[in-house]
Amino acid sequence: MADVTDLLDAGERLGPEELRALQLERLRASLRHAYENVPFYRESFDKAGVRPEDCRTLADLAHFPFTTKADLRENYPYGMFAVPRERIRRLHASSGTTGRPTVVGYTDNDLSMWADMVARSIRAAGGRPGDVVHVAYGYGLFTGGLGAHYGAERLGCTVVPASGGMTARQVHLIQDLEPSVIMVTPSYMLTLLDEFERQGVDPRATSLRVGVFGAEPWTEQMRREIEERFAIDAVDIYGLSEVIGPGVAQECAETKDGLHVWEDHFYPEVVDPITGEVLPEGERGELVFTSLTKEAMPIVRYRTRDLTRLLPGTARVFRRMEKITGRSDDMVILRGVNLFPTQIEEIVLRTPGVAPHFQLRLTREGRMDALTVRAEARPDAPPEVREAAERAIVAAVKDGIGVSVGVEIVEPESLERSVGKIRRIVDLRPRDAG
Ligand code: DLL
Repeated sequence: MADVTDLLDAGERLGPEELRALQLERLRASLRHAYENVPFYRESFDKAGVRPEDCRTLADLAHFPFTTKADLRENYPYGMFAVPRERIRRLHASSGTTGRPTVVGYTDNDLSMWADMVARSIRAAGGRPGDVVHVAYGYGLFTGGLGAHYGAERLGCTVVPASGGMTARQVHLIQDLEPSVIMVTPSYMLTLLDEFERQGVDPRATSLRVGVFGAEPWTEQMRREIEERFAIDAVDIYGLSEVIGPGVAQECAETKDGLHVWEDHFYPEVVDPITGEVLPEGERGELVFTSLTKEAMPIVRYRTRDLTRLLPGTARVFRRMEKITGRSDDMVILRGVNLFPTQIEEIVLRTPGVAPHFQLRLTREGRMDALTVRAEARPDAPPEVREAAERAIVAAVKDGIGVSVGVEIVEPESLERSVGKIRRIVDLRPRDAG
C-alpha cells in the first residue's frame, strides 16, 4: 500500500508556519466578509468596538464577539447570509429540539470545500478511492447524509445512499453490495448489530473494514464494543451544521488519538464556558469555531456548547480535539454533581451481562432530582448476573462520579433503538421544575 503521506492533499502538507500564515490571511478576509455583508456582524463588531482590521494576529480573534445559536435563531431564515440568495445553492437545517430550527446555506464553493473536507476525513479514516461507502446517516435537512455522500464521491468512492431507517434492508445491502466503509451514528450501528444477529448473519464476517462514526458523543468503550463486534476500525468524525456539517474534524485511523481539526478552514478555540475567556491548549472547555473560507454563511466565534480540549497535532499538522465528553446542554446536575451521559456509557459498557443500550431517566422526588439508569440485560445473562450488574453500576457511579443513582436492568430489546442521533436523557420532571 502507498505511504499515507502520498495521499495527503495540499492543506495537509502545509508546515506549521505556513498553516498559521494561511489561517491569519483567511481569518482577516473572513472577518471582513462577515462585517461587510452581514448586518448582524456589523452591529455586533461595532458594539464590541472592533473592526476586522484589528485582527493582526490569530490571538486577536479573542477580542471579537461570540455568536450563539440564539443569534442564528433571531436571524432566521436568511439573516446570517453574506451573499445574495441566488448564489445559495443548497440549504440545510439543524433540527433544534425547541423553537425555530436554524437554517444554513452554501454557495457552490462552500459545497466544494465541504466535499473536500469530508473526502479528507474519509481518507484519514482509512477509506480509499474505489471503496464502496455505505452512508446510513439520514439524508435530508440534516447535514449527515448529503455531507458524507458528496465527500465520498469526491474521494472517488462508490456511494450507497442508504440513509437511516429500514434496518433489515440495510443489512441486505451491506451483504450484497459489499461496502468496505460505513458512515453512520454509533448508536444506529448498534441497531444494525441487533439486526445482523436477528437475521443470523455474522457481523464480523462482512466486507466492512472501517466505520466513520459521529453526530453524537460516544466513548472509547463504545469504540471497543463496535470494533470487536464488527471486526472493523471505528473512528470518530465531528461536525455541526452551523460550521458546515460533518468533516470539521476527524480522527486518523493510524493513531485513533482524538480528532484532527481541519483548521485550514475552521479555526478552533476552547473557552471557559462561564467567563468566555480563551483557555490555553490542553485545558478543557467549550469549543468555539470561526470559519476561514465560507462564503454563504461566514461564522465568527460560534459557541458550539461541545466540551473538549485542544491538543497538538500528531498524524497531521493540525491540532487535535479530544473526543467530545458531552454538550453543556446534556449535562445533568444531580445534587450539585455534574454528570454527562458519556460517563454512564463508560460504566454500562464495561459491566458484564449488560448490552450497550441504556437510557437516563430524570425524575423529581420531592424537591430533589433523581436519575435512574435503565440498561438492557444481554439476552444470555441469567438473573444473578443481572442483579450483580445492577449493584456494579450503582457502585461505579457512586465511586466514579460521586452521586447516587437508581439502576434498573431491563429486558433485552426493551429500550427504544436509535435510527439516527440517540436521545439518552428522558426528562420526566414536572415542566415548571428548573
Ligand atoms: O451532527 C453533523 C454530523 C453529521 C457530524 C454526521 C458527524 C457525522 P448537527 O446536527 O448540527 O450536525 O449537530 C451538531 O452534534 O455540536 C455535537 O454536539 C454533536 N456531534 C457531532 N459530531 C460529534 C462527535 C451534525 N463526533 C452537534 N462526537 C455537535 C460528539 C458530536 N458529538
